[in-house]
Amino acid sequence: MRIYEAENYEEMSRKAANILAAQVILKPDCVLGLATGSTPIGTYDELVARCDSGDLDFSEVKTVNLDEYRGLTRDNDQSYYYFMHEHLFDRVNIDPANTNVPDGTEPDADKECARYEALIDSMGGVDIQLLGLGHNGHIGFNEPDSSFAQTTHCVDLTESTIEANKRFFASADDVPRQAYTMGIGTIMKAKKILLIVNGEAKADIVAKAFFGPVTPEVPASILQLHPDVVIVADKAALSKVPEQA
Ligand code: GLP
Repeated sequence: MRIYEAENYEEMSRKAANILAAQVILKPDCVLGLATGSTPIGTYDELVARCDSGDLDFSEVKTVNLDEYRGLTRDNDQSYYYFMHEHLFDRVNIDPANTNVPDGTEPDADKECARYEALIDSMGGVDIQLLGLGHNGHIGFNEPDSSFAQTTHCVDLTESTIEANKRFFASADDVPRQAYTMGIGTIMKAKKILLIVNGEAKADIVAKAFFGPVTPEVPASILQLHPDVVIVADKAALSKVPEQA
């Protein structure tokens, strides 16, 4: 696990975009695993700027997103499909046919999750997976549990996640209660993982997830066992990392 410290959110975003850009330059038809949430917005802005300047070409890039709320239609501005188009896909020269987000409108959860897992395999796996970090240590929507979920599955969101995400909705009642998400096993299969995290509010969970024991109670802790993980974090998020680390 390699940790890059950034001064602030802007520097974290630039450093993360550099890593993703390097991947695209080295392998123009790579598979990028993408994430939503407030953390990656600056990284996507940086990628858009590099595309605008002609330094980055998305024409052959393929993408798979981590997760999607169950029940939200694509035109709902809180769906992750909508988020990805707004922040990245509609702003770079990617072929929309090469972008993939779980279909939250598919009522048959088993069918959709099996389709998505098979799709990722058929693409040859993920070259680099971008991750944010939930306050309770979730990655994608893999919530704290008694075991690690292996493949793409349907999850019941925890109260703390509903609470954290209600800022995007009219009220907490409007936050969907379920989501489709890649499993921990799906995420761990990615060849490389790039986790980005910022802000003092995440300092406790950063210390716990990356310097504490590996446990499904803190889903991100499993990343300690992945052979190729890069964490780009700002100073505030690293402020509670133990001294000897
Ligand atoms: C959401 C997403 C995650 C994201 C996390 C943190 O619930 N499903 O993929 O990483 O919460 O979000 P934020 O970056 O807004 O703190």
